[in-house]
Amino acid sequence: MRLDIISIFPEYFSPLDVSLIGKARRRGTLDVRIHQLRDWAHDVHKTVDDTPYGGGPGMVMKPEIWGAAIDEVTEGGTPRMIVTTPSGRPFTQAMAQELAQEPWLLFCCGRYEGIDSRVMAEYGKRMRVDEVSIGDYVLAGGEVAVLVMVEAIGRLLPGVLGNVHSAVDDSFAPGAMQNLLEGPVYTKPPVWRGREVPEVLLSGHHGKVARWRRDEALRRTMKNRPDLLEALDAATLDKRDREL
Ligand code: ADE
Repeated sequence: MRLDIISIFPEYFSPLDVSLIGKARRRGTLDVRIHQLRDWAHDVHKTVDDTPYGGGPGMVMKPEIWGAAIDEVTEGGTPRMIVTTPSGRPFTQAMAQELAQEPWLLFCCGRYEGIDSRVMAEYGKRMRVDEVSIGDYVLAGGEVAVLVMVEAIGRLLPGVLGNVHSAVDDSFAPGAMQNLLEGPVYTKPPVWRGREVPEVLLSGHHGKVARWRRDEALRRTMKNRPDLLEALDAATLDKRDREL
């Protein structure tokens, strides 16, 4: 997969050199190219923003600069374009799965009050453009949002996770536990500071372990995300679930 990122703060992306994503880049599974937006600004101050039409606080990113950058970066091809903004569609595991299928993604990092809206309209004619938010809070810019998305997408690419099963039981992953949070996990030693690992996990009884994990997932979801339980299709709950 090819990933282009355009930002006025390329330094934000050094975490993409490490861990699973760094390894995937070195192996060639991920081709990440980071671009400095100011390289396409030609005045002495390398200005990328201007005051908003209609008045109001803050600054808006200029369309000519973004246009020149996107034209050059996408020359000869059509990636799927993602623009970060708190006003975008929410980023979810389902969106990560969908984006992981794409051969080429272009991330455009908004700053200040955002990018002149004509940029999204213009490129929307040439390629799929999505404005995406990673949550209901306002960051100083889209760089951290892109890091979040690249990590969520990258770990779904074939060969990126060490253990192919690791993604299966993730909270929000599709499957039997879809829309339930993952329950608590334990490793050795069996007793730590007097606290014992739940006995069922040491029993070797796969059926009982699966039932216990589902009960714990339901309990945790009830406690931390009751909204997810409300949204759950009642048909996916079994008799035991309903007794909980
Ligand atoms: N830029 C600022 N806040 C953001 C958010 N929550 N998601 C994506 N981009 C942003």
